[in-house]
Amino acid sequence: MKDIITLGIETSCDETSVAIVKNGRDVLSNIINTQIPIHELFGGVVPEIASRNHVEAISTVTKEAFKQANIGYEDITAVTCTYGPGLVGALLVGVSYAKGFSYAINKPLLGVNHIEGHIAANYITHKDLEPPFLCLMMSGGNTQIVHVKSYTKFEVLGKTRDDAIGEAFDKVARVIGLGYPGGPKVDKMAVNGKPIYKLPKTHFENLDFSFSGIKTAVINLNHNSKEEINKENLCASFEYTITEVLRENMEKAIKQTGAKKIVLAGGVSANSFIRKAMQEFDKDGIKVYMPDLKLCTDNAAMIASAGYYNFIEGKRSDLYLNAIPNLKLN
Ligand code: KG4
Repeated sequence: MKDIITLGIETSCDETSVAIVKNGRDVLSNIINTQIPIHELFGGVVPEIASRNHVEAISTVTKEAFKQANIGYEDITAVTCTYGPGLVGALLVGVSYAKGFSYAINKPLLGVNHIEGHIAANYITHKDLEPPFLCLMMSGGNTQIVHVKSYTKFEVLGKTRDDAIGEAFDKVARVIGLGYPGGPKVDKMAVNGKPIYKLPKTHFENLDFSFSGIKTAVINLNHNSKEEINKENLCASFEYTITEVLRENMEKAIKQTGAKKIVLAGGVSANSFIRKAMQEFDKDGIKVYMPDLKLCTDNAAMIASAGYYNFIEGKRSDLYLNAIPNLKLN
C-alpha cells in the first residue's frame, strides 16, 4: 500500500510547529518554534503577540520541516492543521497558511481538533497502541476524561467546570513568583518539597473536575499566612492534592467503563509526580501509556497523526475552513 504522508501545522497557542508524519506514526520531522521566551516577559501568553509571531515564523518552520524530512511537496498526501480549540488569532494563522499551502500544492486540506492531536501523540510514542482506551487529557486549556472509542470517535465522560489543570499550575506559579510557564517550574520545585499544607479537594457525583478552589487556596495561603511559606512544600502540596483528585476520578472512570488501557495526554502529562501516580494503575490487567516528554506539549506531529486517522476515514475540509476557538471533541 502507498504510504500516506501528512503535513501537520499547529499554531493554537504559543508554539509554531510544522511536522511531516508517515502513516500516522512515523515522524519524519517535527519542528517546534516556541514563543515562551517572548511571553515569559509578560507572565503569560499575549494573544496578539502570539499571532504576530506565528506569522513571522511559519514559513521558515515549514521549510525546515521539509528539509529535515528530506522530501518534496509532491510527496505530501494531505495538509492538516489545528483549527481549534485555541486562541482565535493564533489559530487563524495556521488555518490560513494550511489553506494556501494545500491550494498551492493541490493536495487535500483537513482541519484537526487540537485535543484529538494531544491524544494522537500517544500513537507516535506507542506503536502498538490502538483504541478503545480511557484518556486523561490535561493541558493548559482543557482537562477531560475521554473514552476514546476509535481513532475518530470520542465520548467526554468528565471535564473541568472551571479552570483547566494547566491553568491552575500556571496561576499558582505566577502567584508564588516562579514565572511562566508555571507547570514545569512547579514540577521542579515540588521535587524537594513535602506535601505538608492541607488544600481542598473538590468532588462531584460524576467525573467532572474543579481546580479553581485549590488554586485560590494556594493563593490565599501564600498571601495570608502568618508564617513564612516554604515554596517547595507548597508546590509539593499542590501537586499531591491535585493528583489525588485525578487518581480518584480515574478510579471511578475505570470502574464505570471497565477500561484496560489508560492513556495520558496534554502538556500537564509531562508532570513527573502525576506520571508516577498514574503509572500505579498499571497492574491487574490494566496498561498505562504516556506520551514521550517532548510530545506532551504542543507540536505538529500529533496533529499530522490525528490528521492521518481522519484522512483515511475520508474526512476532508474545504477552503471555508475557519478557526473555532472553543471547538469540542466530536
Ligand atoms: O498541551 P499544552 O502544551 O498546551 C495546550 O494545548 O493547552 O499544555 C501547556 C500546559 C501549561 O499550562 C504548562 O504549564 C503545562 O502544560 N505543563 C506542565 C508541565 N509541563 C507543561 N504542568 C505540570 N508539570 C509539567 N512538567
